[in-house]
Amino acid sequence: SSPRVVFSGIQPTGIPHLGNYLGALSNWVKLQKNAGPEDELIFSIVGWHALTLPQDPVALRAARSDMLSVLLAIGIDPNRSIVFHQDQNLHHTELCWILNCVTPLGKLRRMTTWKARLAASRNANDESEVDESLLNAGLFTYPVLQAADILAYRATHVPVGEDQRQHLELSRDIADIFNRTFNQGPPLFPLPECVITPSKRVLSLKDPTSKMSKSSPDIQSRILLTDTGAQIRAKIRGAVTDSIQGVTYDPVNRPGTSNLLTILAACTDREVLDVAKTYQHKGHGQLKTDVADAVEELFKHPRSEFEKIRGEASYLLKIAKDGAERAMTRSERTLLEVRSRIGL
Ligand code: ADP
Ligand code: NA
Repeated sequence: SSPRVVFSGIQPTGIPHLGNYLGALSNWVKLQKNAGPEDELIFSIVGWHALTLPQDPVALRAARSDMLSVLLAIGIDPNRSIVFHQDQNLHHTELCWILNCVTPLGKLRRMTTWKARLAASRNANDESEVDESLLNAGLFTYPVLQAADILAYRATHVPVGEDQRQHLELSRDIADIFNRTFNQGPPLFPLPECVITPSKRVLSLKDPTSKMSKSSPDIQSRILLTDTGAQIRAKIRGAVTDSIQGVTYDPVNRPGTSNLLTILAACTDREVLDVAKTYQHKGHGQLKTDVADAVEELFKHPRSEFEKIRGEASYLLKIAKDGAERAMTRSERTLLEVRSRIGL
């Protein structure tokens, strides 16, 4: 089969939590490990996407740098993969503008992420009234920037979570519209394939009916990649379970207990039902001890790497600069062709 070009992005949201790691980032490392010698891997910290929500400049700068440190700490190898800050490759914005001009408004209006934003900005008493101060144009065209991120490298495979499937469909639509409109020569863009990561949805430790999220005000509800062993143990010990005797995997009736089994299975690379079997005659206490040990073990190396790397400002600058240069060399080839086809 022909070489794959894999593209994926993550927002600079600071230190990832266990859900981000098991649900997204660990998958990047696996992809890198399993990639064929001809495959290209391109991983981006998408600073421009972050601007669709209000950001504190000082916090954003730190989060951006921390995310680069995290990617290196978990094993993304800058000699193997291109790792870079999206905002340091202007081809993304150039292509985004060009794609904006071929994207039908109706398609953007149908994005469920946009519909959710719109719904959230409606007046509670008068549904017809939208508080437009809560909306900006970037929120609306965000999926086009995502398409540009992918198409700038003519990526063939895009690992994303289930929640991003519709955005990837839009990227394919936009690629197809461009290909058919500017059809001098063979189709310019391959239609990128969605690589849905086997969903390891990690739930909040405090409210196991919702997912573990950075937006929860309760810091005890999530484990951060930088948490110490003691912090991890305290958070797992405080995890909400239930008063049913014994341990079984039953996500509907026992979400807290099942979440701990999911975490343990993911950390130790086993099937959750296999893990559950080993707890037939054990209780929550033993399960929590084992989960805490497994998470601590999983994060031990990345955490110490992160603590080392995050202080090395000049190393990080060099990695970012090299990454951006390599990314631009790749995307320049696409942009030359795009400009030529559209007549610029
Ligand atoms: P958060 O929900 O904390 O704001 P993001 O929306 O920034 O996280 O998600 C970043 C990546 O991590 C996405 O690919 C998302 O699907 C994944 N992710 C986030 N939370 C979880 C979770 N609880 N379980 C599994 N994956 C998650
Ligand atoms: Na989120």
